Amino acid sequence: MCGIVGYVGKREAYPILIKGLHRLEYRGYDSAGVALLNGDLKTFKCVGKVSDLETFAKDMDKTGSVGIGHTRWATHGEPNNVNAHPHYSESKNLAIIHNGIIENYAPLKEEMKSRGHVFLSDTDTEVLIHLIEDIQENEKIDLEEAVREALQEVHGAYAIVIVSKHHPNQLICARKGSPLVIGIGEKEFFIASDATPIVEYTKNVIYLDDEEIAVVKGTGELSIKTIKNQVKTPYIQKLEMQLEMLEKGGYDHFMLKEIYEQPRSIKDTMRGRLHVDKGLIKLGGLVDYENKLTHAERIIIVACGTSWHAGLVGEYLFEELARIPVEVEYASEFRYRNPVISEKDVVIAISQSGETADTLAAIEMAKSKGATILGICNVIGSSIPRTTHGGSYTHAGPEIGVASTKAFTSQVMVLTLMALLTGHNKGTITESRYHQLLNELELIPEKVKKVLTSDEQIKAIAAEFKDAHNFLYLGRGYNFPVALEGALKLKEISYIHAEGYPAAEMKHGPIALIDESMPVVFLCNNQSAYEKIVSNVQEVKARKGRVIGIVEEGDEIIQKLSEFTISLPRTEEPFSPILASIPLQLLAYHIAVMRGCNVDQPRNLAKSVTVE
Ligand code: G6P
Repeated sequence: MCGIVGYVGKREAYPILIKGLHRLEYRGYDSAGVALLNGDLKTFKCVGKVSDLETFAKDMDKTGSVGIGHTRWATHGEPNNVNAHPHYSESKNLAIIHNGIIENYAPLKEEMKSRGHVFLSDTDTEVLIHLIEDIQENEKIDLEEAVREALQEVHGAYAIVIVSKHHPNQLICARKGSPLVIGIGEKEFFIASDATPIVEYTKNVIYLDDEEIAVVKGTGELSIKTIKNQVKTPYIQKLEMQLEMLEKGGYDHFMLKEIYEQPRSIKDTMRGRLHVDKGLIKLGGLVDYENKLTHAERIIIVACGTSWHAGLVGEYLFEELARIPVEVEYASEFRYRNPVISEKDVVIAISQSGETADTLAAIEMAKSKGATILGICNVIGSSIPRTTHGGSYTHAGPEIGVASTKAFTSQVMVLTLMALLTGHNKGTITESRYHQLLNELELIPEKVKKVLTSDEQIKAIAAEFKDAHNFLYLGRGYNFPVALEGALKLKEISYIHAEGYPAAEMKHGPIALIDESMPVVFLCNNQSAYEKIVSNVQEVKARKGRVIGIVEEGDEIIQKLSEFTISLPRTEEPFSPILASIPLQLLAYHIAVMRGCNVDQPRNLAKSVTVE
């Protein structure tokens, strides 16, 4: 979704803004633009990539040490040069960039139009900057005050940065519902939607809270107030991110790098938490909530996209290991129902970005009904971990590829640790089984490494099926969510239609689709229900479907039945989703590359969905 960068200081702003916009490309966007202040307030913007903007601005004067930059993911108004940000106010003395949606923009626009305002774009953002200037002029107040008043009039979500011709050394920024980070340098400030454009300049950052407005100046001054005019003391945090984490490191794509990082990222998720020798699991952010989990009458998992698939694996884990009933909900559905929630419920919100608007709204709703909310997030300092009662970071490191890979396996790992810890505390697993599982868990990163050695073989399978129009992914039990996730990966990046289904449910519909051109990826790595899976494979074969079997090493039956097989190291069944998801990530990746798709930035998708 929209990306924001801003700079005020002594350096030339343009190169910093452009580099920042490149860093934010992973969020997904359709147009880009920049405003620079150097006496005049100039904007240049165009539909397309940041590199198109660079070409467009090639011969223009780009001097100035104050500026703002934006990548737009269209909501109000089609992607075109006019709708791209920044937007000017009526007088062109102010320019704004915005991430979010101003929901009541239409009546505000009509009202201002009736008073002679002329709007150039179809966006809600242009309405906001007109409103700010209108208030400033009518009430003869300063800009910060006018921003404050305007923000009290608007409904919806925003992260904004404003530059003013009359304030040549300052930027004003504010947030509500959409993220904003301020990096603090030596008499200079960097503003961005997340820390990725900031990390190479400074490690000192402030995460703005909802309804806060910050004024930053090239003199080094910074002040923060709420929109209700309360003065806030800035809370400066240290970034843990390293610059190398944001580079491709020799891989062709971030997605491939992130797939290959999984032995490391999974180990990082377990680091300091799994103590096999002592028979201990320690999750620091959950210590105060272990008791709550042990006595939970129900767990409700809320999430979107890939994180929702991780939640489904969590359902199997918590029910088997801790004997707690679990419901897994799409955050977007959950928030608009009137679900029955009590204080005895524990809600687990899963989100890579920690910024997904629907997940945040679901949390607020469950919180208001008294539930305990725990988060599983990857981005440190993001909004979800700041609104939940407790939780665990996944520590997978920055995930840049839009299609989530390492974040998923780390989410599943956190859920595994939580379920094992809770099961042990509750006594729902025997001591011997608990230790057996802990011993096996420690081996998972090495086993993931082994799965990655199948890459060439998977590439050959990809070459065979790259022109398919449809794919089916079938799995049972723990590996049903893996089937859903495998299908999602393929859809997202290769644009091939794919469906994930519980293997036995196939007979109630998808079986009608099977013919000699239908590739069927079969997850056959479950020890339980193995015979049933063999029967399901037979059913597909009988209709001439082309079977790609994901099996455990040593499997001979499915091997014989399948056209292709990929072997996984043997593991305990509750841990099998982590291993089984990796070949499916690689299969989707290679197919997408062979089809010439933009793997890291698939069309229409955004890395973090900060609007409903
Ligand atoms: C978007 C991303 C997905 C992600 C989903 C949920 O659709 O493209 O990769 O799974 O949002 O995001 P979250 O950050 O909450 O996990």
